[in-house]
Amino acid sequence: MITFENAKQLLEKYHQEHLLQYWDVLSESERSQLLNQIEIIDFSVLDTFTRSDDPASERGVIQPMSAVTVSDIDKNGELYSRKGIEAIKAGKVAAVLLAGGQGTRLGFDKPKGMFNIGVTRELYIFECLINNLIDVVKRSGKWIPLYIMTSEKNNADTVNFFNEKNYFGYNSDYIEFFIQDMAPSVDFQGKILMENKYTISTSPNGNGGWFSSFARAGLLRKIKDTGVEWINVFAVDNVLQRIADPEFIGAVIESQMQSGSKVVSKAAPDERVGVLCLEDGRPSIVEYYEMTEEMRTLLDDNGELAYRYGVILNYLFNVKKLEEISIQKMPVHIVEKKIPCMDENGELVTPEEINGCKFETLVLDMIHMQDSCLAYEVVRDREFAPVKNSTGVDSVDSARDLLKKNGVDL
Ligand code: UTP
Repeated sequence: MITFENAKQLLEKYHQEHLLQYWDVLSESERSQLLNQIEIIDFSVLDTFTRSDDPASERGVIQPMSAVTVSDIDKNGELYSRKGIEAIKAGKVAAVLLAGGQGTRLGFDKPKGMFNIGVTRELYIFECLINNLIDVVKRSGKWIPLYIMTSEKNNADTVNFFNEKNYFGYNSDYIEFFIQDMAPSVDFQGKILMENKYTISTSPNGNGGWFSSFARAGLLRKIKDTGVEWINVFAVDNVLQRIADPEFIGAVIESQMQSGSKVVSKAAPDERVGVLCLEDGRPSIVEYYEMTEEMRTLLDDNGELAYRYGVILNYLFNVKKLEEISIQKMPVHIVEKKIPCMDENGELVTPEEINGCKFETLVLDMIHMQDSCLAYEVVRDREFAPVKNSTGVDSVDSARDLLKKNGVDL
């Protein structure tokens, strides 16, 4: 473990010496807990801290990007399906479920995947995803390795839940969990917050950290040894999504592109979804809040929105390319949040107002690191039912309606 002296030097470098201010009153075990945390935290994210100047927000020249559309897929479905199933059968495909988020908008006190979306019976979000993957296992006759990313905060609950539910019928030899890294939270002056005298306030470092955590857990070596070439990365909250979808995989392989992204046509110009486009000639995702009014409403020659392909956090990455880009630094996004922290009496309080910032890297930034990305359009009502909130847009209610529409018994 790092020594007190080394910790002090490290903290001085980042102007965070206050983390050691209670050192003298801490017990031996509290001291080692604190040193342990200092040792594993990535302080370099603090370099990006200037509230008004987020480097992730500097953009290049943006242009619309075309897609393989739903009607193209209808025409070429057989070819795509054959290619995709071939790759799955050859053991070239794995999937990574991003389940390390805190799901604050849903307000559920357990990991989001443990939420029961059933009405008259139990049907958990994790179960919906596993059922969808089992469809492909049945079609291909092959178990697809599934790696589930959790965070320190929800790992135990998630692993226990899968055990308790017998992996929802999936072959447990093909499921593995790995834990993402944590980043410190800071106040508006850039000073790291503390939860108590020996615990630094941290949160999961965003879903963009999945590849480095995956590699650190030894899983990159493992999949390379077994010949995996493609990884389908997807979010926990879309209960309708097709995972390791043979047609999607086949279309990306056939296109000879380095990556693929499932997209849906935007429902309206101001829909709050990031769009896939070209930035300085490379694939890129522009978040809804970064779009200008002109971009939002621009029409193409067919009278359709020029920037209409919204991303649904379901990507296909090539393992070789991922390794190549892993040496590049991901942009760090600064997100203002209400962060529970210690008050002047040493008590943990949850603030009423936003009081600081968290640091996150985002998987969508990996798309801009690719030379090419196939936009693959899917039918929204069949494949996009995100559970972000409990009611309203992208909610438990809307996801239930869509599940029913797709014949899922609730
Ligand atoms: P969201 O952007 O919806 O974030 O994550 P969230 O933390 O789950 O939810 P809110 O914003 O607090 O309500 C999109 C996907 O990325 C995963 C989430 O679990 C979800 O599948 N994620 C997010 C991680 O795996 N790690 C993170 O640090 C953040």
